[in-house]
Formats: sequence, C-alpha cells, structure tokens
Amino acid sequence: MRCFSCINCFPKDVENYDGNMAANKFAVHERGNRCNDVDDGKLADSMREKRFSSQRGNVARGFTFRELAVATQNFKDANLIGEGGFGSVYKGRLESGKIVAVKRLNLNGLQGNQEFIVEVLMLSLLRHPNLVTLIGYCADGDQRLLVYEYMPLGSLENHLFDLEPGQEPLDWHTRLKIAVGAARGLEYLHCKANPPVIYRDLKSSNILLDNDFNPKLSDFGLAKLGPVGDNTHVSTRVMGTYGYCAPDYAMSGKLTIKSDIYSFGVVLLELITGRRAIDITKKPGEQNLVAWSRPFLKDRKKFVQLVDPLLQGCFSIRSVHHVVAVTAMCLQEQANFRPLIGDIVVALEYLASQAEMSENLKSSTVGSQPSPGHAREPGATAIPASK
Ligand SMILES: Nc1ncnc2c1ncn2[C@@H]1O[C@H](COP(=O)(O)OP(=O)(O)OP(=O)(O)O)[C@@H](O)[C@H]1O
Ligand SMILES: [Mg+2]
Repeated sequence: MRCFSCINCFPKDVENYDGNMAANKFAVHERGNRCNDVDDGKLADSMREKRFSSQRGNVARGFTFRELAVATQNFKDANLIGEGGFGSVYKGRLESGKIVAVKRLNLNGLQGNQEFIVEVLMLSLLRHPNLVTLIGYCADGDQRLLVYEYMPLGSLENHLFDLEPGQEPLDWHTRLKIAVGAARGLEYLHCKANPPVIYRDLKSSNILLDNDFNPKLSDFGLAKLGPVGDNTHVSTRVMGTYGYCAPDYAMSGKLTIKSDIYSFGVVLLELITGRRAIDITKKPGEQNLVAWSRPFLKDRKKFVQLVDPLLQGCFSIRSVHHVVAVTAMCLQEQANFRPLIGDIVVALEYLASQAEMSENLKSSTVGSQPSPGHAREPGATAIPASK
C-alpha cells in the first residue's frame, strides 16, 4: 500500500518529467526495482565497480585556473556570493558569456586528486531538472574548483529566514512548489540514478532557486570528498549537517536512503514554520526545530499552529494538514516507518496542484485578494503569531 493512500490522487508517471533527457541520463532503474535501501559501503563498492561503464552523459569540461580567475575577475570580493564548509562561491562570466557559479574548494583535509576527478565525473553524469548542473571543474596544480550553473535566487535559506526589509515571504503555493521539486530531485538520486545516490546533506542552503522558484539540489556528491579513514578529520559534513541528521544515522553511522527522508522532513518543517532547523538565538526548548515541533506534530488539532506567521493566514488548512502529516511521517524516529521518496513526490504533487488551482481561481477574482503574492486560500484562517 502506498504511504499516503489518504490523499486521493493518481500517481503521476515519474518518467514524464525527465523523459526527454533520456540521452543524458546517468542510468535508470527498472520501475519495479525502485528505492531499495543501500548502505554506504555497498554504495561505495557499487560506484567503484560500475564506474561509468553503462552511462552516457555530458561530462563536465575542464577549465584552467586562469580561465576561472578571468571569469570571476580574480575572485573579486564583489563577486563573492556565498561561503560554505568547502570553500567560497563566486559569480562569474565565462568567455562564452555564460554566467556561472564557481566554487573554490578549500583543500584542507580533502582527499587526493584522483578522488576529486571521480567525483566530478559522477556529478557531471547525474542529470535532472531538479539537480544543479555541474558545468566543469579545474584541477590546476593545487587548485580545485567546481563550476556550476548559476542560480539567480540563491538558496531556499535566503527566502525563508531573516528576510531583508521589504523582502516578500514565500507564499504557501511557492513553498509547496519548492517541496515538490526538491522531492523530485531526491527521487532521481534514490530511485533512478544507478547506482543510487544517498544525498546525505539535504538542507535549505543546498536547495538553490532559479528565477521562477524552481528548486535544484546542490552538493549532492561533494560530501564524498570529505576525509575517510581518519577520525581526526571526520566533520559534520560526513554525518550531514546538525539539525538535519537522522537520529538513526547519528547513532549507528549507518547511512540509508531513509536518512535523506528524515532530512527532507526537516526541510518541510522549515518550509511550514519559517524556522531554522537549528536556531541558537531562540530560547532553550525552541532551538532545535524538530524537538520544538514534536508536540504539534502529535496532535492534528495543533498542526496549524506550526505555520509561519509571515503567511498571515493565507493558506488552506486542509493543505497544511496534509503537508504536516507527510512531514511527521518523514520525521519518524524509526527509519523503517519513514515513507519512500516516490510516495512523497506523489502526495506533494497533488497538494501543490490543488494550491495552484485555488491560486489561479483567486487571481481571476482579483478583488478578493488580500495582497499580491498573499492570496488567501478557501478555508484559510488567520493564525496567531507563534514565531
Ligand atoms: N550554483 C549556485 N548559484 C548561485 N548561488 C550559489 C550556487 N552555489 C552556491 N551558491 C550560494 O553560495 C552559498 C554557499 O554555498 P555552499 O554550498 O558553499 O555552502 P552551504 O550550502 O551554505 O554549506 P555547505 O558547505 O555545508 O554545503 C549558498 O548558500 C548559495 O547562496
Ligand atoms: Mg551547499
């Protein structure tokens, strides 16, 4: 039985959304053989064995360090768009005029050159509309850089938390659209990539957005660059990021696709609440989002109290109920009880399509809209601020 049989919808054929990309596919599982758990050891072995023998795709191109220095105006501070655990990210313009994001890796503690190249090859062969495309790499001398497609709206994190004055909060429909896209990207990694890829670092800063708020997962292979076999260098990257890491994985170190489902649940919770997975500026008891939300997740009557006050009641209670129910399933302590990503995709697609329909209905009756981008859905209610 599907996990969300309560939601009455027809499973969409998951092949449809990237059917036209068959020529570029990494590899695709047979439908009947989707989403089996894989442990980390087997995954690594499988990758080593299979390498790229049966795969076709656009291999990322190599760049010289000079080309990337020119593209980023010598890594000018003004072009710095972000910094993360692996290094700094710069906006750049290639000779062709294409705008790209260039990640300059901080090599401390990373494995050697060969591993870097293998990672780059693997990433360049994974192709899906909801994964950020790796355009190329640079392995000149000691320098290691990755060149990605540029995502103009930055990360989901930038649109959920600490908004700039005047910055519009994401409306409910856009939040669902982002959840659906992220779930589709994860489904590709879990169920269609061969061998399957466990993301292990799903979080809002790794969900990047194009101009239409279409989400793309990033850094889906980079975690494997982390140090191995040397405990002194095992970092949060290897375990995923604190606040998103499944309790079973944290305790046993055994990684399965269900660890990613837990992290996906945390991202859903961030989308619903507008709160960070970990926020040390909050008072004790509210700093860990999952722990704070548990009492609300257990009681259907309290679901709606989780919702981001910035939405000002502009959402359908029914939709919130379903999304919170999906979130609660993803966050089950016991990994086996968490749903498979394919079922999550089907449920969220249905909920997003309902939200889109009600939004379209409302935009045809403009007078009833409370404010642009904040259409109140049928059955919506104003929720007291709990943030
Ligand atoms: N392809 C891209 N296009 C546009 N902006 C990007 C791109 N990749 C990264 N960024 C920006 O750079 C920031 C830093 O990204 P980076 O992946 O280095 O760190 P992070 O995701 O915050 O943390 P971690 O190192 O743990 O993944 C992102 O939050 C995003 O704003
Ligand atoms: Mg990242």
